[in-house]
Amino acid sequence: MKPRDFQLDPYWMPFTANRQFKAAPRLFVAARDMHYITEDGRRVLDGTSGLWCVNAGHCRPKIIEAVKKQVETMDYSPAFQMGHPGAFRLAERLAQLAPGDLDHVFYVNSGSEAVDTALKIALACHRARGEGHRTVLVGRERGYHGAGFGGMSVGGIPANRKAFGNALGRVDHLGHTHYPRENAFSRGQPAWGAHLADELENRIIPLHDASNIAAVIVEPMAGSTGVLVPPKGYLERLRAICDKHGLLLIFDEVITGFGRLGPCFAAQAVGVVPDMITIAKGLTNGTVPMGAVIVRRGIYETVVQAAPPDTVELFHGYTYSGHPLATAAAEASLALYEEERLFERAQQLAPYFENAVHSLREMPHVIDIRNMGLVAGIELEAKPGKPTERAFRTFLRCYEKGVMIRTTGDIIALSPPLIISKQQIDELVGVIGDALREIGRD
Ligand SMILES: Cc1ncc(COP(=O)(O)O)c(C=O)c1O
Repeated sequence: MKPRDFQLDPYWMPFTANRQFKAAPRLFVAARDMHYITEDGRRVLDGTSGLWCVNAGHCRPKIIEAVKKQVETMDYSPAFQMGHPGAFRLAERLAQLAPGDLDHVFYVNSGSEAVDTALKIALACHRARGEGHRTVLVGRERGYHGAGFGGMSVGGIPANRKAFGNALGRVDHLGHTHYPRENAFSRGQPAWGAHLADELENRIIPLHDASNIAAVIVEPMAGSTGVLVPPKGYLERLRAICDKHGLLLIFDEVITGFGRLGPCFAAQAVGVVPDMITIAKGLTNGTVPMGAVIVRRGIYETVVQAAPPDTVELFHGYTYSGHPLATAAAEASLALYEEERLFERAQQLAPYFENAVHSLREMPHVIDIRNMGLVAGIELEAKPGKPTERAFRTFLRCYEKGVMIRTTGDIIALSPPLIISKQQIDELVGVIGDALREIGRD
């Protein structure tokens, strides 16, 4: 290994135990297809698509070429009052991929910005309709909607909120949908739990009054808190209640977008059309930061028509909204997904992946396994008095053995690139099994 020519200390790492990491760093220096290369030259199989984003695998030449060409042609174009062709072309393509009449696209730079933008659009839309009193935003326990103030507020992860005053005031949360007592070891969508959506109508709406509620935001499949698969019928019920009471329904598809569950969007996998979809990650195959909100035509028209002509309709946006490098990366990624039929591939591989992950059922400390598409959660029994320790040690063991998994609490989350082979699925699951056996012994 070459000696490092940099210090570890000045970099304040996000969502990382800085002191623990810096005492035993894990550094990647290169990546290709299904593998990372560590600084000491080891190959590591990517079981998590980086951070749920590299859906077509790493360093794909066509994406690299598109970004290179763009940076040589035009590095930047102002996002406000100016445009460039790539941004329009990409919006048209996303409108074709999205379900129903979700056919207008607002660009941002991350999932967090997509969520905050969607929440702001919900408020602006109701106001434009003359219902500016609709300001309550409803999220869900164990939801992750990024790290901005809006996303943190509707999110339901206590540790992410604790130090920050819980942020936005007019927020409420549905209960989560994770009930292993009813649904442990479900394959695909669990049969039990559609009724959990009724809390919206039975508790939240009576408490706030529907006329004060702007929107409900959920991840169709909650990723970051450990792969919580929606019970059959649950999202359908949320949609029906939102329709009945005039609430906008936002699906946060930052993880589920771009084939993770098979079809392009989870909305299509479950057959429920939301009013807005937030995306990021797989949009550019993780290559260049980019996010977006895809909205129904009526939302765009409501906000735009409410303003006098020749005026800005929505006072919102970012310097890098629709950045040319990002739109080039996104166009090339979407073309690659289509050319290699990666969403269909994910759908076809899903049963093999499901059987492979469920083969870990008898491993020490495993108390639940769940899956949908090419995503799976393996939940371990927490070590008494030491929550998260078992899963984190499993993560470290796997890393030593050349496999990257992700853990959250005591749950292992798997979300490999959609190009993974059956042999690599076996390797991924085999290494996790070995690690669990070793951890189980001590
Ligand atoms: C569902 C969901 N929403 C939002 C975000 C935030 O995205 P970003 O980290 O790009 O801001 C994430 C990130 O994991 C996510 O999983």
